[in-house]
Amino acid sequence: MAWLHFASRLSALLFALHLSTTLALSQFDRAACQYPTEDPFEGCPSNTLLVGPSGNFSTIQSAVLSLPNDTAPYFILVEAGNYTEQVNVTRRGPLYLLGQTLAPNDRTQNLVAVYWAAIAGTGDNAYTSTLTVAPTLNASLTGSGPTGNPVPPGTPFGNTDFRVYNMDFVNDYAPYSDDPSLAVSVSYANTGFYYTGFYSYQDTVYIGKLGNAYFYDSEIAGQTDFFYGFGTAWVQSSLITLRGCGGGITAWKGTNTTFENKYGIYIHDSAVMKVNTSLSIAGHCALGRPWNAQMRAIFANNYLDDSIRPAGYIEWQSTDPRIDYNTTMAEYYDVGPGFNLTGRMDGGVTALLTPEEYEPYSSVERVFQYPFSGEYGNIAWIDFTPWA
Ligand SMILES: *[C@@H]1O[C@H](CO)[C@@H](O)[C@H](O)[C@H]1NC(C)=O
Ligand SMILES: *[C@@H]1O[C@H](CO)[C@@H](O)[C@H](O)[C@H]1NC(C)=O
Ligand SMILES: *[C@@H]1O[C@H](CO)[C@@H](O)[C@H](O)[C@H]1NC(C)=O
Ligand SMILES: *[C@@H]1O[C@H](CO)[C@@H](O)[C@H](O)[C@H]1NC(C)=O
Ligand SMILES: *[C@@H]1O[C@H](CO)[C@@H](O)[C@H](O)[C@H]1NC(C)=O
Ligand SMILES: *[C@@H]1O[C@H](CO)[C@@H](O)[C@H](O)[C@H]1NC(C)=O
Ligand SMILES: *[C@@H]1O[C@H](CO)[C@@H](O)[C@H](O)[C@H]1NC(C)=O
Ligand SMILES: *[C@@H]1O[C@H](CO)[C@@H](O)[C@H](O)[C@H]1NC(C)=O
Ligand SMILES: *[C@@H]1O[C@H](CO)[C@@H](O)[C@H](O)[C@H]1NC(C)=O
Repeated sequence: MAWLHFASRLSALLFALHLSTTLALSQFDRAACQYPTEDPFEGCPSNTLLVGPSGNFSTIQSAVLSLPNDTAPYFILVEAGNYTEQVNVTRRGPLYLLGQTLAPNDRTQNLVAVYWAAIAGTGDNAYTSTLTVAPTLNASLTGSGPTGNPVPPGTPFGNTDFRVYNMDFVNDYAPYSDDPSLAVSVSYANTGFYYTGFYSYQDTVYIGKLGNAYFYDSEIAGQTDFFYGFGTAWVQSSLITLRGCGGGITAWKGTNTTFENKYGIYIHDSAVMKVNTSLSIAGHCALGRPWNAQMRAIFANNYLDDSIRPAGYIEWQSTDPRIDYNTTMAEYYDVGPGFNLTGRMDGGVTALLTPEEYEPYSSVERVFQYPFSGEYGNIAWIDFTPWA
């Protein structure tokens, strides 16, 4: 009885949430909303706040802080310009950040950028990030050791549907790899990034515990371990820019869970290229290295330029390889001068997956899980037609 009562209340709540999202979205014409016009709200949903010279908010963070921690969807439209601030999002309900732009399907023409400059030094990496999406500070802490920061039991999940369209996030503490400098940090949250850019040199993208992130037609630029974390990240049709080589492009920590998990970094149909021709890094950059022995990374159907090492992935360190039978450092049909079949075979570190081995990881439906239960199919927050 109690269960039935709870279940019907839950479905009523989910229905109400669905309805309010649908209502707000029915008035949403993304291109019109983001196009700078005399009435900046033209095409925008009703719950839209404006940040910038003609808005009520001069910083993105002040607009975020004005929102209630409820399940109603909100939209923040950001006028063209550079903003120097850290943006932290703790709220549960859907939140979309929209950068004003003349070209909503072309990240190279983005007009909005958020800058911050910090390195970790003796503090936790979490404090450095330009953008953070996590319900609490504690959920966002990286910590140390094979299992990282122990997030307090009972910490609730944070944002269920956070999205960014046409904005860049930069952590420009130093123009080289110095120490962790995050551009984005996601924990206990579902996040989608469309036509965005993330720029730093080390640990640029952190997808932490119970973090889910989908990147589409975006640029991620870095040098050392610049995709790292504990959660699940899927990078689709994007540009991965090498600003040098250090560690690996990816460095993940797997986690023992009571259910099967597919936590890991999945990079699909993308290009991995050095930033410019004056950089001499041919054959030097590793696809990844195991932050712990349960690392899972798959590069599938990508173009790799000649910066990639013949062996592909590498050990963590020769004295501490961190590779065992639970380590997944794999590729599936990558192409380009950075894919050296002889080198991959000789190196003995990179797994070249068969179609059968790849199949369980071959779609977002098969990898994104609901928090706590581990059920698959947590994808309602993904925009599969961002160009529409
Ligand atoms: C600013 O806030 C006021 C009061 O809520 C509102 O009436 C007005 O439309 C807002 N203006 C903009 C540009 O967001
Ligand atoms: C924003 O910063 C970039 C890079 O520093 C600069 O090229 C651009 O002109 C700036 N834009 C504005 C509107 O100030
Ligand atoms: C938001 O609300 C949820 C549910 O009531 C709560 O668990 C959470 O602590 C709140 N978060 C913040 C940042 O207030
Ligand atoms: C954002 O959170 C970080 C900790 O992760 C904190 O150091 C920083 O002050 C926060 N910034 C704002 C604007 O709240
Ligand atoms: C994080 O949670 C742990 C465990 O509850 C606690 O010991 C620690 O003080 C918390 N840290 C912060 C910064 O809240
Ligand atoms: C090439 O990229 C490197 C690394 O980011 C940078 O230091 C250098 O200034 C760039 N050179 C040119 C000519 O853009
Ligand atoms: C997972 O469990 C195994 C066996 O108990 C242990 O050796 C390993 O350290 C654990 N790994 C993590 C990341 O907790
Ligand atoms: C390997 O992974 C399985 C499943 O998560 C776990 O039970 C086992 O303890 C892991 N072994 C090691 C050595 O980490
Ligand atoms: C491919 O890798 C092998 C090492 O296994 C190396 O001898 C060869 O030069 C590499 N080819 C290219 C084009 O880098």
